[in-house]
Amino acid sequence: MKNGNPKRVELMVALDVSGVAEADRLVTRIGDTVEWYKIGKQLFTRCGPEAVTRVKALGKKVFLDLKFHDIPNTVAGAVRSAGAIGADMTNVHAAGGPTMLRAAAEAAEEVGIILVAVTVLTSLGVEDLAAVGISGGPEAQVVRLARLVRKSGLAGVVCSPLEIEVVRAACGPDFLLVVPGIRPSGVGTQDQKRTMTPEEAVRAGADYLVVGRPITRASDPAAAAERLRASCETAIRR
Ligand code: C5P
Repeated sequence: MKNGNPKRVELMVALDVSGVAEADRLVTRIGDTVEWYKIGKQLFTRCGPEAVTRVKALGKKVFLDLKFHDIPNTVAGAVRSAGAIGADMTNVHAAGGPTMLRAAAEAAEEVGIILVAVTVLTSLGVEDLAAVGISGGPEAQVVRLARLVRKSGLAGVVCSPLEIEVVRAACGPDFLLVVPGIRPSGVGTQDQKRTMTPEEAVRAGADYLVVGRPITRASDPAAAAERLRASCETAIRR
């Protein structure tokens, strides 16, 4: 059973740095505790595919977090390109609609990459959504889009910790939930508002925990990663 008692949770470190040398140093310093790294727009826009190939050369897996949102043909091409440069997982915006999602899922299948979708950006509140014509608030929209993502053949979604339970209930135990906004207790939340501790997120049913600054800005990133991994394992055993 995944909900409340997952078999396995992956820790994914967000490499929000501005150069490959810094990324390289961090990955090397963190060492064996972490297998997955998330490369987003900051590093990729500056360094391109080299950011992915350098992390892969260190024996790690890469989630290329570029949140593609475009017409179906273009997004499918981008997903194929993500596979071609060696990324293991990438993502699209669910709001791109069913035809785009299906095209992206087919492309992902072709190149053997895990594809997840962003439902509603966690920076958007009730009023922001109303301003773009979506009434009913974020939660209803997240669940509607998560169902569409599942039906379109993608592996899962990126969601905030507070959405884990509703999405899990709507989409079942095999749907992947990639969850940022994780803060170990006693660590500052920085700009994150809707956070959970790693233990809470694992118990709620997350599959991948995305953690950035609590590891990358720690004085000893390897020790911080080790503590996080230990917290996840404790929550799994409970
Ligand atoms: O440093 P921190 O742990 O807050 O990093 C979290 C990572 O997850 C960042 O790369 C951030 O962009 C990403 N993210 C997020 N909230 C979302 C989606 C992605 O924090 N809803």
